[in-house]
Amino acid sequence: MNRYQDYVIRDGKFIGKFEEMYQKFDDPWHQSEDGIFNNLSRKVVSHFIRQYQIKTSIEFGCGLGNTMSFIQKETNIETLGVDISETSIRKAKKKYPKMSFEVNNIENILDYSQFQCFFFSEITWYLLEDKLLDKVFEKMKNNLSGKFFIHNLTFYKGQQKYGRKYFTNLKEFIEFCPFKLLTKVEIEENDCDAYQTSSIFLI
Ligand SMILES: C[S@@+](CC[C@H](N)C(=O)[O-])C[C@H]1O[C@@H](n2cnc3c(N)ncnc32)[C@H](O)[C@@H]1O
Repeated sequence: MNRYQDYVIRDGKFIGKFEEMYQKFDDPWHQSEDGIFNNLSRKVVSHFIRQYQIKTSIEFGCGLGNTMSFIQKETNIETLGVDISETSIRKAKKKYPKMSFEVNNIENILDYSQFQCFFFSEITWYLLEDKLLDKVFEKMKNNLSGKFFIHNLTFYKGQQKYGRKYFTNLKEFIEFCPFKLLTKVEIEENDCDAYQTSSIFLI
């Protein structure tokens, strides 16, 4: 396997070898600040945080910590980044020594009930196997009522193979999500076969 993508989803099948991927590749998804995750969708998150006066937020699937660091600098709120990969968290701590990161699986989301906002950035496609997303949403619905959920996800126009039974666009994701939509934003660049979305919900 020579591409980082092969450790994640291959031929429409979930592989999910995130730790092995981070051991082998320095910057999967080009997460570094000028990479493919356009700053606009992150800026929208900073806007939501200010608009709804959010003071604390946890990001699940924080990877190398670049998104959390960007948002923390823009908003100055208290943050924690969590990822399933030990290697990614070790690298995030090294790169951003003043910020907080820890290893955990999103299935343990209730370990962090004290946070005011729960942020998923480009992780949702990896939570569909064994209905993990359904289980996490159920826990959130039953235990985190009144808190905020911020969801950033890239959708693919036409060529998406994996996860189609769940949702293929933002409208379908919103229908699937059991929380109350507050605001949604779609960022679409001309001639690009994918588009980014940011949404905020009240749990
Ligand atoms: C595409 S990266 C997103 C990086 C970062 N959130 C961003 O937007 O720049 C997805 C991350 O989700 C993590 N991940 C996948 N499954 C997870 C799980 N069950 N619990 C926690 N993190 C998970 C992976 O290790 C990977 O770092």
